[in-house]
Amino acid sequence: MGLFKKYVNQTRKPEGFLGKMMLGGMNGGHAKLADWGMSHLDIAAPSNIAELGCGGGRNAGELLKKYPSAKVTALDYSELSVEKAKEYNKNMIAAGRCKVIQGNVAKLPFAESEFDLCTAFETVYFWPGIEKCFAEVCRVLKDGGTFLICNESDGTDETSLKFEKIIDGMKCYTAKQLESALRSAGFGEVRSVHHPKNPWITVISKK
Ligand SMILES: C[S@@+](CC[C@H](N)C(=O)[O-])C[C@H]1O[C@@H](n2cnc3c(N)ncnc32)[C@H](O)[C@@H]1O
Repeated sequence: MGLFKKYVNQTRKPEGFLGKMMLGGMNGGHAKLADWGMSHLDIAAPSNIAELGCGGGRNAGELLKKYPSAKVTALDYSELSVEKAKEYNKNMIAAGRCKVIQGNVAKLPFAESEFDLCTAFETVYFWPGIEKCFAEVCRVLKDGGTFLICNESDGTDETSLKFEKIIDGMKCYTAKQLESALRSAGFGEVRSVHHPKNPWITVISKK
């Protein structure tokens, strides 16, 4: 595998030296997209939030700022991502408002109906069987709880489709495909927002 391919494959599960490099740029690289996605949240004051596939942890930190009375549990299956997200949120961890744990979205280590809000930024491309994973998210959400997905690919843009070919296990979804999988997984109300200029999508669903 060439170096470029090895490097971009670190987006799926950051590991080793290249994974560290990838994580170093991820928080900043996804900030605009994540802020745009978060701006569509219409939930007033969630008390318990799960940030899934948290990467370097910046979005967990933003959720803690946006919702000052909330607690956030950030989860990722990469040991390196967990390490980085812990370091990024160390003050909030010390204050008892944030936890960062290693786990797989295919089998969430949470009880039923624990969360008011679950978020997933730039990560569902890699989830193993989105319907099954979305059903897991639905299980851990309270009735009426919100699930926000935010992707920089709308499933049709050339750049992401190029990456889909070189990143193992990556799948770029259209908003319609995500909506349909969410409904099959048990979500009721589902809506999508497309960015006016970029191929970015945010899909918001309610249990
Ligand atoms: C491209 S990064 C995005 C990180 C972060 N959400 C952001 O927007 O910067 C994808 C992250 O999802 C994580 N991930 C992928 N599949 C996962 C799974 N099945 N369970 C938990 N984490 C997963 C990866 O380890 C990686 O940290």
